[in-house]
Amino acid sequence: MKQKASILIVDDNEGIHKSLKLIFNKKGYKTDTAETAQEALKKAHKKYFNIALIEFKLPDMEGTILLSKLKELYPKMTCFIITDYAFLQKVRMAARINADGYFIKPLIPEDVVYRFEKTLKEQSIEKELKESEEKYRALFENTGTATMIIEEDSTISMVNTQGEKLSGYSKDEIENKMKWTDFVIPEDMEKMKKYHIFSGKAGEKPPTEYEFSFIDRKGEVKNILLKIGMIPNTKKSITSLMDITKHKISEERLKKTMDAAIYTISKIVEAKDPYTSGHQQRVSQLAVCIAREMEFNEDKIEGIRIASLIHDVGKIGLPTEILSKPTKLSNLEFSLIKEHSQTGYDILKSIDFPYPIVKIVLQHHERLDGSGYPNHIRGDEIILEARILGVADVVEAMSSHRPYRPALGIDAALEEIYKNKAILYDSKVVDACLKIFKKKVNLKLNSIIEELSYSL
Ligand SMILES: [Fe+2]
Repeated sequence: MKQKASILIVDDNEGIHKSLKLIFNKKGYKTDTAETAQEALKKAHKKYFNIALIEFKLPDMEGTILLSKLKELYPKMTCFIITDYAFLQKVRMAARINADGYFIKPLIPEDVVYRFEKTLKEQSIEKELKESEEKYRALFENTGTATMIIEEDSTISMVNTQGEKLSGYSKDEIENKMKWTDFVIPEDMEKMKKYHIFSGKAGEKPPTEYEFSFIDRKGEVKNILLKIGMIPNTKKSITSLMDITKHKISEERLKKTMDAAIYTISKIVEAKDPYTSGHQQRVSQLAVCIAREMEFNEDKIEGIRIASLIHDVGKIGLPTEILSKPTKLSNLEFSLIKEHSQTGYDILKSIDFPYPIVKIVLQHHERLDGSGYPNHIRGDEIILEARILGVADVVEAMSSHRPYRPALGIDAALEEIYKNKAILYDSKVVDACLKIFKKKVNLKLNSIIEELSYSL
């Protein structure tokens, strides 16, 4: 059970002492009494009281002066003044400064207790609210990232110290004066408006995390990863902003290095097999177009682009005579050719790609019905990216010249994938590929790919 407050009653009137003590003790409060201000101060020095009830007219000091002294010593002590009507004006003046309330004589003990408890309750609610606000502010300040509270009309109502550092503006300059859009570069404005201003539309779920370019006080543009969420039961949102500029720069560098390495690998294969020169680039462009048509995300598309550029790297292990043989291949020669998927896998498997490149390369000749190679896997066992590469590879290869045959043409290539849709090739991939070519019906494959590559 919660312990009730201890009360010091300071009054030289014995009758008041007794009646207040009686009623407060009945209610479970611990009470003590003092007849003079000096006695009250002595008792307060010895023992802490949560509450003091002080008569205004004490023999040695005005009650309001004692109250000030007690408040100075114990700022958290709750102090009430008891007064005659004659001194009410004076007490009110004092109450405005220091007292938590006052009671006018003659006292009705029940009324005193009622008002006394009401005041305590209000103070406790206020205290809880204040504590909760302090906790909230402390959490807000220590989120570890720049954090802002944004109102429905985009005004920033709160920003933490890290938000000040990121933006170059002070809290006073930002809070309730600046809008969220003041920090967005013009190029990203439409995107941001869509995310923030229209996020309240029924049925629309704006993204909770995305990147954008943030402009600070000096005009410096920073890459920011933003996370945003609505505050429950309000129209405000809380947003954290992480500066990823350095990370972006090293990511760009890494991408450039990887692109250069991929380009080199692709050129090594073509140096070994000049007859398929350009094949991997064209397959890559077509595979990317198919993936876009199928609405893949940018990450998956990038994996498909890279895998396609080096998908025949395993051919490096084949004798040149087989690769450039002008006549039909024998069964033995064809079985050697078939090893290139596994060889490609073995060459690349030690590289820790951020995409499933190695798997795509291994599976690019697998077919839905299990008739492919090297592992004769079927259907969903073949990852979708490899099913896309498989289709792009066949279409490009059939449309192009080979040492042992002239180009079969784009129509034959499309006929091949259409005929074997859902048998050898994934239906959705075939549909996407046919859709691309249907749009460009009068063009040859090379021109289509050239044209499509502009939109990549
Ligand atoms: Fe291949």
